[in-house]
Amino acid sequence: NNALRLVVVGSGGVGKSALTLQWVQQYFAIDYDPTIEDSYTKQCFLDDAMCKIEVLDTAGQDEFKTMREQYLRTGDGFLLVFSITSRETLDYVVKLHRHIDRLRDRDNFPMILIGNKCDLNDERQISMEEATSVARELNVPYLECSAKFRKNVDQAFLDLTRLVRKF
Ligand code: GTP
Ligand code: MG
Repeated sequence: NNALRLVVVGSGGVGKSALTLQWVQQYFAIDYDPTIEDSYTKQCFLDDAMCKIEVLDTAGQDEFKTMREQYLRTGDGFLLVFSITSRETLDYVVKLHRHIDRLRDRDNFPMILIGNKCDLNDERQISMEEATSVARELNVPYLECSAKFRKNVDQAFLDLTRLVRKF
């Protein structure tokens, strides 16, 4: 099995499953059903090469976080997902980034910061400028996404796949 392993992490309810399902199965999951752990595979054609990708959709709710260390140690790349409507969800992925850096002990381990739910602009707590500057400090790319409207969903997963391949 030579699939690249992309791991989707972040707080409960930020839209990790919605983003994953939009990418893998092209639909928007309206209902909130907290994840324990789900895994999907997808083949895609990227920059003239075929690649096999495994997406691990992880638990944000604390009660299901038992597998966390395991996937943080084995993932090839991470989507650090927060919701632009919640400051604490940004704080959480910043901590996760630090934790992954320490665990993996490599500079520039492949990660992308994702501000999801950008369709909910009226409820925004994190501006584009602030998120961009946080991303710059972490030395990772930043993308605003909407799983609901499929905005930047392909780009998020494909950009991360590119980073993993180059790494
Ligand atoms: P856990 O599995 O508990 O960690 O949560 P999660 O991060 O997987 O969240 P999930 O994808 O289940 O989404 C939570 C709720 O937010 C659901 O009701 C989704 O429909 C909604 N949601 C997800 N993405 C978006 C988005 O881009 N825009 C809007 N408006 N709602 C979204
Ligand atoms: Mg989920």
